Amino acid sequence: MSLPDASQTTQPIQLLDLGRQHRPLRQQVLEALAQVYDSGAFVLGPEVKKLEITFAQYCRVPHAIGCASGSDALLLALMALGVGQGDEVILPSFTFFSTATAVTRLGARPVFADIDPQTFTMDPRHVARLITARTKVLLPVHLFGQCADMEAIGRLAAEAGLAVVEDCAQSIGAQWDGQPCGSIGDIGCFSFYPTKNLGGAGDGGMLTTRRDDLVERLRLLRAHGMEPRYYHKLIGINSRLDSFQAAVLNVKFPYLEQWTTARQANAARYQELFTHAGLDRILGLPQTNPRCRHVWNQYVIRTPGGKRDALRAYLAEAKIGTEIYYPLGLHQQECFQFLGYRPGDLPETERAAQEVLALPIFPELTPAEQERVVGTIAGFYRSSAAAAASPQTSASIPPPKFLQSPQVAPNQSVPVRRQAD
Ligand SMILES: Cc1ncc(COP(=O)(O)O)c(C=O)c1O
Repeated sequence: MSLPDASQTTQPIQLLDLGRQHRPLRQQVLEALAQVYDSGAFVLGPEVKKLEITFAQYCRVPHAIGCASGSDALLLALMALGVGQGDEVILPSFTFFSTATAVTRLGARPVFADIDPQTFTMDPRHVARLITARTKVLLPVHLFGQCADMEAIGRLAAEAGLAVVEDCAQSIGAQWDGQPCGSIGDIGCFSFYPTKNLGGAGDGGMLTTRRDDLVERLRLLRAHGMEPRYYHKLIGINSRLDSFQAAVLNVKFPYLEQWTTARQANAARYQELFTHAGLDRILGLPQTNPRCRHVWNQYVIRTPGGKRDALRAYLAEAKIGTEIYYPLGLHQQECFQFLGYRPGDLPETERAAQEVLALPIFPELTPAEQERVVGTIAGFYRSSAAAAASPQTSASIPPPKFLQSPQVAPNQSVPVRRQAD
């Protein structure tokens, strides 16, 4: 019996369809933008202040400071902590590029830790072996919407007298033991890049901190270290949050929790559908640490056996968008060759880079679309099992019950919209 792959419908399913989120908010957003335009307060100003207050409350910290991007938030955090030449910062290799460039831009050395294969987040056992007298900061990344093990990382930092900067770019609303990310370490760094769970209409970022001694420094550093006007206390940068972005984010913020709940429901539904289709025995489905509130910025499966790129091409032909976060560990990137890493140095990172595939998980994704995603993946494995004439594998993938009508093989390729990071 052949397994149907739910590709009979030709409607594309994008990895992230922002239009569905934005269309109902269009009027509200345009009104908010018009107000900013009429006010003439384009840089920082009341919309940014309002967002900073809401954000601080949401993260349960006394201070939130808007800035121009998540990349700048990381840079500013390390600047505020005095990271510079000769210092080392330990961070995962399996993350977006700018987690590491915040370090190198200050003349410090990124020291890459491997990941926990279950959660894709920085492995504290490896971090423990990397701490030296030069280490200044531990920089965990709450990847794909799930917190790193903040208890173990916090303990290592306390023992060695190190600061902790949390990269929360993908994890707004995530919690570790009920504590919001961004409120656990010394500084939290958030991104409002449009693909994030709270995305602006352009770039934006936010810093959070519990530390009263850091807040003025962060505020100064994001605006040329200037106070009062044309008197510069510190050598800062220009990284002010744009009022138009803040206005958009202020409109969107009240919906964040409902969007997060929808992402969580979609993740649970994938789990059910994959299990029902027998694919949990073939794929590595994402694991949630029970101590973490996962907010599912990405739903990332593992595709063992070297089949990831073929599966991705198959899904693209069925007009289903996917992405590879990330095809290389940072220690494997050309620009970081000077750091001297060799193949095999971070085996879990390197394995993940070969296996991972992100599937659509955005809040407005429908159950029918999820069924089609899973059905198409089932179709891929069934056809590749048949091609390999492996009755054993083929038999292990029963046709999912939710697929009822006969299928048409995917035959039309579709440009998959790229998400940058
Ligand atoms: C883990 C991580 N860190 C940092 C960033 C940088 O944020 P931004 O794009 O706002 O500069 C991103 C995403 O873009 C990210 O995913």
